[in-house]
Amino acid sequence: MNSPHLRLLRLSDAPGVLAAFKSSPEMSRQGDVTDETSACRYVERLLDPELSHRPWAVARPDDSLAGLVAVSVDEQNRNGWFWYWMNAADRGQGWMRSAATTIADWALDQGGLYRLELGHRANNPESGGVARAAGFIREGLEREKFLVNGERIDVLTYGRLATDPVPEGPRLPIVSPSAA
Ligand SMILES: CC(C)(COP(=O)(O)OP(=O)(O)OC[C@H]1O[C@@H](n2cnc3c(N)ncnc32)[C@H](O)[C@@H]1OP(=O)(O)O)[C@@H](O)C(=O)NCCC(=O)NCCS
Repeated sequence: MNSPHLRLLRLSDAPGVLAAFKSSPEMSRQGDVTDETSACRYVERLLDPELSHRPWAVARPDDSLAGLVAVSVDEQNRNGWFWYWMNAADRGQGWMRSAATTIADWALDQGGLYRLELGHRANNPESGGVARAAGFIREGLEREKFLVNGERIDVLTYGRLATDPVPEGPRLPIVSPSAA
């Protein structure tokens, strides 16, 4: 496929995960990935069926990993914690906005979930742009939740319900393994 697309995350994405974590300092907040071993462990945990994550790779036209959109599922309540990141080299092209919209639609439709939720630091407006584009509605503000470099930072919380309006805007194609 000669355009950005979504596909299932796979073990061979570990080098792409490591590259993304090395691409900018704030990626350290997304997990503990510092070398090949920890990158493999990170992918293995996301793929572990017992841990109920649904990890989707945002793939470049050449199918290599640019970013991740994941839903961590709370089966009992049919809720999902929604989260995402992009390699710094691939940001700002609207890929994440389209990817997050596509996966939020999928989770509330084929994925069988009723409620998706996310939170982002108030000083991370790009993440809020992605959330709103993907149909999330602002729900609240957790005051001074995180301590970052000695400063307490607010977190903005968002949710999207299966009954909320489906947002307009572009989607990315979801490519099955055989078609990749
Ligand atoms: C958040 C993140 C995934 C966004 O990736 P991206 O490639 O920039 O996303 P996109 O290009 O698809 O779009 C970002 C949106 O934010 C907007 N945006 C970018 N910079 C912005 C800024 N300074 N202020 C407000 N909006 C901004 C963009 O314009 C776009 O919205 P638009 O399409 O309505 O214009 C990326 O910055 C990232 O990986 N950050 C580190 C990890 C992280 O913070 N993840 C989120 C945790 S909840």
